[in-house]
Amino acid sequence: MTHLVTENCIKCKYTDCVNVCPVDCFYEGPNFLVINPDECIDCGVCIPECPVNAIVEDDSCNEKDFYYELNHRLSQKWPNIVKSKDPLPEAENYKNVTDKLKLLEE
Ligand code: SF4
Ligand code: F3S
Repeated sequence: MTHLVTENCIKCKYTDCVNVCPVDCFYEGPNFLVINPDECIDCGVCIPECPVNAIVEDDSCNEKDFYYELNHRLSQKWPNIVKSKDPLPEAENYKNVTDKLKLLEE
């Protein structure tokens, strides 16, 4: 089991999740963060930190296989992020937008 970042994060990237992770398993791309499922210890403390509810436990995820592959693949490619920073400038405009996968920059 693992936790996964889903599309609500795209174009927001609040990064509050990063500060609480005990194993520093978040990885940062241009407009999205992912979790490395091999490193996540499933503690769940990041879930309430995300203002847009982007983080889910994998068994609660409707598209578990898709998001597992996405988080795993991008965590191999993107740099580790261990400290929160300012959200993206457009975060407030995108926090209630749905169907954001097409906006993901890899
Ligand atoms: Fe980190 Fe725990 Fe969230 Fe996994 S569930 S990403 S270990 S804070
Ligand atoms: Fe993204 Fe939420 Fe973390 S918007 S960067 S998953 S706090």
